[in-house]
Amino acid sequence: MSDLKDKKIVLGVCGGIAAYKSAELVRLLIKQGAQIQVVMTRSAEEFVKPLTFQALSGRAVRGELFDLGAEAGMGHIELARWADLILIAPATANTIAKITHGIADNLLTTVCMASKAHLMIAPAMNQQMWFHEAVQENIQTLSQRQTVTLCGPAAGEQACGDTGPGRMEEPAQLLKHCISLLKPNQRLSGERLRGKRILVTAGPTLEDIDPVRYMSNRSSGKMGYAIVQAAINEGAHVILVSGPTALAAPDKAECIMARSALEMHDKVFESIASVDIFIATAAVADYRPVNKMNQKIKKNNDTLMIELIKNPDILADVAALPDKPFCIGFAAETNDVENYALDKLKRKDLDMIVANKVGGSRSGRNTGFEGDNNELNLYWNDLLDQTELKAKKLPYASKDQLARQLIDEIVLLFTQ
Ligand code: PMT
Repeated sequence: MSDLKDKKIVLGVCGGIAAYKSAELVRLLIKQGAQIQVVMTRSAEEFVKPLTFQALSGRAVRGELFDLGAEAGMGHIELARWADLILIAPATANTIAKITHGIADNLLTTVCMASKAHLMIAPAMNQQMWFHEAVQENIQTLSQRQTVTLCGPAAGEQACGDTGPGRMEEPAQLLKHCISLLKPNQRLSGERLRGKRILVTAGPTLEDIDPVRYMSNRSSGKMGYAIVQAAINEGAHVILVSGPTALAAPDKAECIMARSALEMHDKVFESIASVDIFIATAAVADYRPVNKMNQKIKKNNDTLMIELIKNPDILADVAALPDKPFCIGFAAETNDVENYALDKLKRKDLDMIVANKVGGSRSGRNTGFEGDNNELNLYWNDLLDQTELKAKKLPYASKDQLARQLIDEIVLLFTQ
């Protein structure tokens, strides 16, 4: 395979324990036909010797901004122009801060500043650092730049003994992201879903009991609306079928309002035929009252029975269509999150299930309904080997950021 034939990549390596993984990354990129110029920060050299990267890339490693010899060859401006992609892996909190705020005090940050190439950043740091407000603010700023793609971090055991988000994304995964960005017939970030039609359900449904009362849930619509915006940012035509929320529909979305589960079912099926990807984030009521009273129920008795009947399952019905779109479901659970999510993946015959815990992540932060932040666990079956289950954790972050990461994963899967 040579998916990256003749593509020129500047690989920035910063000072972190994950720097050793970048050697494998160079090997994978070269194997795909890419030309790699490694640029190391000074602290990166404390972790891995430049000779390792030189041997693997076949090019002298660059490090110094004011290196007369190197500048006489390919100076930093030429290097910036040469690159089709700048990939920083691992990217430390320090380098992320410099890039966010336009500080160019070493060769790597100067090349980033002087280049029009797309910038891919794979953060790697201690989990406590990752959660630091300053880092989160910088990540938030970078993730809003059209020319920047953030990959990871992954969560798990860390070299320092902590457990949590902050591990550098695996080289094989980073390679996939590079191919997705640079493949000749692959569109660049901002274009990757151009021509695709995506239908997203979001928010709660309201099941009327009488003219003044209804049954519902705490869904604010924030997760679904963030996904709509992220898909629009990748050029997709997005149809949003939304339950009642206090949110303004994202610009450019084709917004269709639905009150009850039955109404949402109808609206979805009016549009589903032309849809490539269906993402069901709505918290649809599983049951509705058998009878909606025409008049307000009076409190004449001490107890009141309301008979309920099951609502149709919109997602399961879409996934059962003979010509079904790529189907992504959500699972909001208070306990046994993974087991329930996997059961839904299988039972509803989905392409992917996105699980979130209601009421708080393992790190004790509020997740799921209503808040601005969340933590997602993605599960899907490998496309080639349907018996192999793939999983990915998207650590605690804003719903906007998670939506962008989820869309990145969907792009990788859907365009494979
Ligand atoms: O809106 P926010 O406040 O931002 O909160 C986001 C969220 C927690 C609502 C969201 O992240 C989420 O998890 N949505 C799914 C909520 C849920 O309870 O799902 P479920 O386990 O009941 O259903 C599983 C899947 O089937 C979901 O994709 C759901 O949209 C779909 N479904 C369920 C029932 C039904 N009758 N029709 C459906 O389409």
